[in-house]
Parts: sequence; C-alpha cells; structure tokens
Amino acid sequence: MNYTISLIPGDGIGPEIVAEAKKVLDKVCAVYGHSFTYKEVLLGGASIDVHGVPLTEEAIATAKSSDAVLMGSIGGDAKTSPWYRLEPSKRPEAGLLAIRKALNLFANLRPAYLYQELRAACPLRDEIIGDGFDMIIVRELTGGLYFGERKTVEENGVRKAIDTLSYDEKEIRRIAVKAFEIARKRKKKVCSVDKANVLDSSRLWRKVVEEVALGYPDVTLEHMLVDNCAMQLVRNPGQFDVILTENMFGDILSDEASMVTGSIGMLSSASLNETKFGLYEPSHGSAPDIAGQNKANPIATILSAAMMLRFSLDLDREADAVEAAVQKVLTDGYRTGDIFSEGTVLVGTREMGDLIAEAVK
Ligand code: IPM
Ligand code: MG
Repeated sequence: MNYTISLIPGDGIGPEIVAEAKKVLDKVCAVYGHSFTYKEVLLGGASIDVHGVPLTEEAIATAKSSDAVLMGSIGGDAKTSPWYRLEPSKRPEAGLLAIRKALNLFANLRPAYLYQELRAACPLRDEIIGDGFDMIIVRELTGGLYFGERKTVEENGVRKAIDTLSYDEKEIRRIAVKAFEIARKRKKKVCSVDKANVLDSSRLWRKVVEEVALGYPDVTLEHMLVDNCAMQLVRNPGQFDVILTENMFGDILSDEASMVTGSIGMLSSASLNETKFGLYEPSHGSAPDIAGQNKANPIATILSAAMMLRFSLDLDREADAVEAAVQKVLTDGYRTGDIFSEGTVLVGTREMGDLIAEAVK
C-alpha cells in the first residue's frame, strides 16, 4: 500500500531521532512491500527560523492531507535560545499546542511498559518493580489549563497572572470513551485521575466518567486523586492498566511514568482525533544539551512510528515487527547512554537505528 506521511523533525534532537524512525519505516516498506511518501513539515523553532512563526497554515494543510504525522521534538534551551525572547504565543511550544488543536487531537495515548532488559535502568527497587508493569496513560490533549483563557495583568502595581481550567462534558466524555475502549482490549481496568476534593472541573470529570462507565460493565473503574496517583506510580506501578486523566495532570504523570520505565527516551505516544488520523511523537522533549551529538535514544520515536502503523495505517503485523525489532536489540544488549548499564553495549543514535532497522523481519 502507498501512504503519505508528514514528517516533523522539529528542533534539538528531533531531526536525529526522526531520521532513525524513517530508516526503520523504510525497512518496513522493503520487507512488507509498502511505499511511504514523506512530506516534511516545519514546526516549532525550525518554523520560527524560516517563517517567523512556530506553525503556518500551510503546515497544518500538509499535515491534514496526509495519512498520519510523525514528529520528533520541538523547543530549545529557554535560557539561551532566541526563540524564547519572542512573546509566549510565538514560541516553539505554542506551535505544538496549535497543531494539536488544529488537528483536533484530543486523545493522547502514552504507554509506559517496563522491558525486563531495562530493569537495571529502572530507578525503583526490585521488590517494587515485581513482575514489571504495563500501563497506558490516556491524556486529554486539547482542553483544560493548556487552552483556557490566560492573561497577565497589573492591578494597583501588583502583577497578577491567570490561567483558566475548564472542561465541558463533551470533552470529558469523548476522552473517557477512548480510555474505556482501550481498556477493553487490555486488562479492563480504568483508573480515572482527578483532584475532585478541590476542583469543580474534576467533580464534573468524575460524574461524566461514571456515566460513560455504565456503558462498559466489563471494565472496572476506579477514581484516584492526582497526588495519590503520583505516589502510587512509584509505590506500586504494577497496579495500573489504563490511567485516564486531564491535560495538565497527564503531562506531569506521563513524565513520571516514563521515568520508572528506565528512561523517558523509551516512551512513545499517539495523539488521535475522532478518526484514524493521528500525530505520533516521543513523550520526551528536544534535549538541546545533547542535540547533534549522536547520543539521543531514538527508541521512543521508533515505537511512536510503530503506533502510527497500528492506529492510523492499520498495519498491525508491521507494527508488531517494529516492536519485536526493538525488543531484539535490547535483548542483544545494545543501549544508548540513557539506558546504559554495566555489561551492555553503548551505541549512538544512528547505530541504534541501524540495529533496529536491521532487526525488522
Ligand atoms: C508534552 C510536552 C508538551 C506538553 C510541551 C512541550 C508543550 O511536555 O508533550 O508532554 O506540555 O504537552
Ligand atoms: Mg510533557
């Protein structure tokens, strides 16, 4: 089959890790007889440098006209990069938020899975890791604090900043439905995370999630307060299957969940709309400190490409092959610096990409 894929290399380590994911996709094409047409799209700092803005209408149109979008990372060092001397709405991150909104990518799926090979890289004690863990965070991505009204004012000489956290029931319902649908294909457990002891938006969240749960009697629903969830993730990560949560909580909890898998360099993600279309990106940032040094771990991006094959292109066999290739390379003992431990073989970004592409069968 022929598919059109928008590639967003972005900033920092983005171009390096996207190049490795493309290498793996090209191998998939060769082995399984597909052809992918790639269209490069500028986003974030890369777009600011060329167009003066982090996202253009043309970029949105190109992304929309493709079957899926694969992204690296965006953003730079806030202390040194000139991008951060621009007003907030013109900075790289604003481009990412704008493309999520423009493509209506309300469902962000972030799987956090412990590879047995990476137990040594996991910061938790062996007895806490137990048999390992396999969870997926379903994060609402186009609402809440990220998109509420915000302003900074000065009242009587006192500076004041306001961000608004709002959710309507439709926004809550559609992400809850996604979480329950996903749970059905897994261990049938949804843990909905909120701050219902304080926030109105969380109280509505809880009610709507309970209404949705009525349609899924085969799935167990539990509610957890976000502070408790942050604690449970390092106390007993094995208890989670699907974590359903709003935008900001999901941002924070997914970084935490990724770290317990050994490295944020392993965590893939998919951002989906109501259709099969999605944007796929690693959960980590652009790591400007190691950009261009062949040090970044491309696995999160390669696993994001596998999610793209599965969710947007319906190529399950091919997605399995990529995931198996990652597994094989880890079993064979190859590691980038972030997941390196005694007795394993340290490789760079390109070598890791070569090894995984080679292992796709
Ligand atoms: C993420 C990132 C983004 C977010 C930033 C770069 C705006 O942290 O995808 O988790 O907060 O959503
Ligand atoms: Mg984040």
